[in-house]
Amino acid sequence: MKVLVTGAFGQIGSELLPALRDLHGRDNVLATGRRLRAGAANDGPVAKLDVTLGEQLEATVTRQGTDVIYHLAAVLSATAEQDPERAWRVNMEGLRNVLEVSRRRNVSQVFWPSSIAVFGPSSPRDDVPQETVMRPTTIYGVSKVAGELLADYYAGRFSLDVRGVRYPGIISSGAPPGGGTTDYAVEIFHAALRSGQYTAFVREDCVLPMMYMPDCINAALTLMAADRARLCYQTGYNVSAMSFALGELAAEISKHIPAFHCAYQPDERQAIADSWPQSLNDSAARADWDWQPHYDLQAMTADMLSTLAARLKEGDA
Ligand code: SER
Repeated sequence: MKVLVTGAFGQIGSELLPALRDLHGRDNVLATGRRLRAGAANDGPVAKLDVTLGEQLEATVTRQGTDVIYHLAAVLSATAEQDPERAWRVNMEGLRNVLEVSRRRNVSQVFWPSSIAVFGPSSPRDDVPQETVMRPTTIYGVSKVAGELLADYYAGRFSLDVRGVRYPGIISSGAPPGGGTTDYAVEIFHAALRSGQYTAFVREDCVLPMMYMPDCINAALTLMAADRARLCYQTGYNVSAMSFALGELAAEISKHIPAFHCAYQPDERQAIADSWPQSLNDSAARADWDWQPHYDLQAMTADMLSTLAARLKEGDA
């Protein structure tokens, strides 16, 4: 089976890629990105690919004989607000190109992540149901809602097997997230280990749903392996793992690094965070494809600190 990954050098891509190469064989998984970067992705086939260029995408898919696409290339929420036009182009045209080329070239499965950003101030704040009001106030969220609708359209109209989850903030020790609102939950670990202090761009009482990378990878692989007949939804499954206030995360880090100090200087990203829910109800994912997270705040913090410390020592982060 031939697998193509877009955004392969990003936060999720760089860790999903080794998992996919273990599963399908190194030479069967093509890592693509707009710019090639050093890293684990190069441990196998790589190619330059700009997902906004439909012809380039189609040529790559044809050359590889792609069976499955993991489409991860996207502009995240905070960066998107700096340049909404570019965010729309990358997130929407990129997705449309992937869906259209998949339809034309008989790609059998597509994974495309949505986000908690599909929700907005008029959605419930806690235990958000799978189906509810979705009127986001960020261009990133707008692109994710529109993307879910477009993907569902391709599934219904052309029977394309496109699947996805609504990821919360993803915490990991590998490639940095770059441009998201939830980046503080990653930055805080780097700062704690490097200097023992962090100045956060959101408030101490800012609560958002989060997930540790092993659960993030597990969600993608489990959903893709699930029996299609059991799935009540295509894209946009709520998945949840943990929710915490930033102050709680800082306190948890302090248990390992007692001298750690966190200060709070909220900027414009606080407003984005305030528009998102604090926790999601993921009972549909649990029922339809046996989703289950393994890391809570305590387990994630302990593992992040030891993994990241080892990476920093090796000069690998
Ligand atoms: N982590 C993403 C962001 O902050 C949310 O999907 O943009």
